[in-house]
Amino acid sequence: MSDVINIGLLGLGTVGRGVWQLLERPNDVITNRLGCRLKIKKILVRDPAKERGVDIPASLFITDAREILDDDDIQIVVEVIGGTLLARQAVNQALAAGKSVVTANKELMANFGQEVMEEAERRGADLFFEASVGAGIPIIQPLKVSLVGNRIQRVMGIINGTTNFILSKMDDGQGYEAALAEAQALGYAERDPADDIEGKDAAAKIAILASIAFNSRVTAGQVHTEGISAVSAKDIMYARELGYAVKLLAVAKLDDGSKSSGIDVRVHPAMIPLDHPLAAVTEAYNAIFVEGDAAGELMFFGQGAGSLPTAGAVVADVVLAADNIQRSTAGRLGCTCFNSWPIRPIDEVESSFYILIEAMDRPGVLAQIAKVFGDHQVSIGNVIQKQTEQGLAEVVFMTHRVVEGNLRSALDQIAALDVVDKVRNVIRVEVGQT
Ligand code: NAP
Ligand code: HSE
Repeated sequence: MSDVINIGLLGLGTVGRGVWQLLERPNDVITNRLGCRLKIKKILVRDPAKERGVDIPASLFITDAREILDDDDIQIVVEVIGGTLLARQAVNQALAAGKSVVTANKELMANFGQEVMEEAERRGADLFFEASVGAGIPIIQPLKVSLVGNRIQRVMGIINGTTNFILSKMDDGQGYEAALAEAQALGYAERDPADDIEGKDAAAKIAILASIAFNSRVTAGQVHTEGISAVSAKDIMYARELGYAVKLLAVAKLDDGSKSSGIDVRVHPAMIPLDHPLAAVTEAYNAIFVEGDAAGELMFFGQGAGSLPTAGAVVADVVLAADNIQRSTAGRLGCTCFNSWPIRPIDEVESSFYILIEAMDRPGVLAQIAKVFGDHQVSIGNVIQKQTEQGLAEVVFMTHRVVEGNLRSALDQIAALDVVDKVRNVIRVEVGQT
């Protein structure tokens, strides 16, 4: 048993600063549980002279990762740099040196999870990544450990704080650009906010959750991904009128019973009924539903981005790693992807849809569009028609559940009709059970 466990912190940005704050304040619970102190010995940054708003001795800053990776007195490496270049290299090297690693990096875990986990396994080292999904919400550990007695059928939710913040603000009438700037200032967005806006961040997170839930490797690139950039203020207005909120939804479902068995995994904007619990998740909050055959439905809710919520999850992992070091038991109960479920093509997935079309405002137009839908087994549940300032008819169709491939073929034909100006947007509608 050691009196002190030394930590090497890679990165001192939004998350790193939070980790410093939480580990540097006195915490009797941690000290008593571990029987030792946790001490940040070195911190890797690009620019040691940068003003960071935290009081940290300059002697701790380093600019060469090897000073941490080659330091035998450092037992735990915390990676909060982001990206997959230096982060991937440093995580692999730390594990190879027998150090425990804690990371908040979803991009790394969703693209190179197999590589780093196998390295951890080989070296008998711990690799924890709770903060990579849902920031302050415990979700990795519950899926890995608490729900291990369940067969998980579905994981679904809002897992990107930045886009949820932007959509909430747009719902309140704020413009997209101003909302994005505010999310960036609050430390929610990725270094390149396009990762949030285009759904890449959420795709990485749902890939991680699906891999653990179904014990089958899912990588970020296998997730059907659509971001929020096509969602307009008009879509949000129509959603309200029809009783829905627009959210960036991540879904992972295992169908293990039918001919088309496999994992349906996707990220896209979705209309959620206003009385559904997900519709009430606003700002940078996240919520994740998990459906298990024993537990039924569970909902995990909390702050999905930001310095201290994320740092809290990192610190919890550091304590787990330190506890294992104290007991000489690192490397227990990892994630094992012993299944190899195929990924279901999006064309086979069934959903309901909101479709906004601009067409000529004259007799017979709706009938022509409706005929194409009918020819493709697309059944319409609701229609709203309004006139635009340009004298066109703006028509909103809400469909019943339809196979996506059929809908896309119908829309290709509709877009080519002489009477149709443009298919403006198509958004899936999540209805029924949570
Ligand atoms: P950030 O604010 O951009 O901070 C990154 C830090 O890494 C900075 O301190 C930077 O140094 C350092 N760094 C980057 N490249 C480096 C290099 N080549 N050499 C040395 N230092 C380097 O990022 P963040 O928001 O804290 O996110 C960090 C990780 O946590 C990412 O994987 C992110 O996806 C994940 N995460 C973030 C949140 C959140 O709410 N922000 C939540 C959950 C997970 P300088 O300060 O000198 O530039
Ligand atoms: N950029 C991420 C988000 C940070 O907005 O959710 C948390 O992972």
